[in-house]
Amino acid sequence: MTRDFPEGFLWGASTSAHQVEGNNDNSDWWDWELVDDGAHVHEPSGIAIDQWNRYRDDMALLGVLGHNAHRLSVEWSRLEPEPGRFDAAAFDHYAGVLDSVLANGMKPFVTTYHFTLPHWFSARGGWLADDAVERYATFVGEVGRRLGAGRLPFVCTVNEPQIVPLEGYMLGVFPPGHEDLGEFQAANRALAAAHRAAVAAMRDVSSDIRTGTCLQLIAFEPARPDDESDRELAAMMRREMTGMHLDDLRAGGDVGDWVGVQYYSKTRLDSRLQPPIALPPEGAETTLMGWEVFPEGLRQALDDAATVGLPLYITENGIATSDDTQRIRYLESHLRVVADAIRDGLDVRGYMYWSAFDNFEWARGYAPTFGMVAIDRDDDLARRVLPSAEAYRRIIETGRVDALTAPAG
Ligand code: GCO
Repeated sequence: MTRDFPEGFLWGASTSAHQVEGNNDNSDWWDWELVDDGAHVHEPSGIAIDQWNRYRDDMALLGVLGHNAHRLSVEWSRLEPEPGRFDAAAFDHYAGVLDSVLANGMKPFVTTYHFTLPHWFSARGGWLADDAVERYATFVGEVGRRLGAGRLPFVCTVNEPQIVPLEGYMLGVFPPGHEDLGEFQAANRALAAAHRAAVAAMRDVSSDIRTGTCLQLIAFEPARPDDESDRELAAMMRREMTGMHLDDLRAGGDVGDWVGVQYYSKTRLDSRLQPPIALPPEGAETTLMGWEVFPEGLRQALDDAATVGLPLYITENGIATSDDTQRIRYLESHLRVVADAIRDGLDVRGYMYWSAFDNFEWARGYAPTFGMVAIDRDDDLARRVLPSAEAYRRIIETGRVDALTAPAG
């Protein structure tokens, strides 16, 4: 029987430090969760899923579930708690985590910045500070040298360079909570520059470390296709959120070795609203995030990213749902799109589901459950493997999308 996915395709799941580790109290996000009587978040992250302490069991479980790759982030605020002071114990911890990923048969994809910043870095202006990119590159070089190329086969330099600018500087719902279009654009450009600087920093460490930025490629559409101002708004968002970063990657110079594609949904823009985001239409399939299920958008994201001319890895795609059969359907529809793209010649080399475990969904707290492994918050954070995790193992084993829905046995 023919495979939809080639042998050697990388399969895994993604997480980030703040969302799973717990007690990440030296970061800007920790403060953001607690200030203004907790008004910015549904609930604080607290102990998260305690992966700081439970990583050995968690990595062993993912190995048993057949994953051959795993994406996680190392936490800058733990590794460089004060400017220029690197914490040897925290580096040892991550060395242990990555050794455990490797020992369980998974290739690490290591994100060096996934939304959370050390206090000291945000206090001096975050991404808008003059030397922000340089400070970040110094940190990234330290990660490369101290963890070593053997533990860093794939490094994701920046997670979603557009999202912190959007949520933190334009919509004001992530730290630093600003609403300023100029700051949004400045932060967005700083993060494109941070990617290039991080690539250069890793090149200085070893040419074996393969670097890529991880772009969130949302399908932006005008809510009212006939309305001029909705169309302009959609075009502006595509330009800022997608075009600017892809142009930068296509502009030449050393932009790394691969591009990470992160895709969830379509966003309909309505210029009459503030913020200008329309609800999905009546009858559309949605998720616990309120996002519209739209697999076709993943093809557009892959086609757009392919214009850079580098191999592609899908570093995030997934669904928050309390209905695991909906998760399996989501996987099936999106993986068919990926299989078609590969058949049409796109160089897609891996897929990482968001997320391995239920975790802290930023402002939304613990309510949106993305995990193929559910976390029981009333039972000491017990891990419960869902049928989707078994279905995912079958597709990994067979390389066939229809294995997802094959009867168990
Ligand atoms: C994201 C994030 C994740 C989210 C996920 C679901 O990169 O936006 O990388 O942290 O939890 O996307 O919203």
